[in-house]
Amino acid sequence: MAQTQVASYTMEAFVEDVNNVFRNETDPHIQAKTVTAYLKKLLAVPGWLEEKLELEEEGGFGRFSLHLDEEAGHPGNGWWLMASVQKPGQDNLPHDHGVTWVVYGVYKGAIQQRKWRWAFPGEGVDKAQIVEHGRFIQEDGAVAYFMPGEIHDTLNVQEEGRSLVVRLESQKLDRVTRFQYNPEDGSMKVMDR
Ligand SMILES: [Fe+2]
Repeated sequence: MAQTQVASYTMEAFVEDVNNVFRNETDPHIQAKTVTAYLKKLLAVPGWLEEKLELEEEGGFGRFSLHLDEEAGHPGNGWWLMASVQKPGQDNLPHDHGVTWVVYGVYKGAIQQRKWRWAFPGEGVDKAQIVEHGRFIQEDGAVAYFMPGEIHDTLNVQEEGRSLVVRLESQKLDRVTRFQYNPEDGSMKVMDR
């Protein structure tokens, strides 16, 4: 019975579930946790993402919009579901997501998540800087959420081939002021929208 339910779950049903979360929950942490569970369920359904993206066996790299919802979101409307088809070794600089929470799911492949936080003199560093405070690998079906203000970076560690990553932004990030950090030179800047 449970398997039948998983197999019949669709992206459209997921969108409805997420909208209900925004309708019924005001606490962003509960929202993020609940949506994470729904995304885990969706990622367990075989074939749906390839079908949506009309994806070939190889390549197809890029970012693709799956659903933009102007009726709900947090803290403002406009939550966004997107997919990124990542090249081997594809990475980014540490960044936060401003006031939004974000859920990262791996549909197929493997990405490394590193988390960073600010450290100041007296906290084990000579000068104020962001320091890594943990990393983990997400493989097929793994979902992780990041709270407002958290800093992370991602790396596609799939050695040959792509990783298919599904991301949900509680409000589309190009509407939000947020920062990117360079751990090499210690600089930070507002991210381009
Ligand atoms: Fe991110």
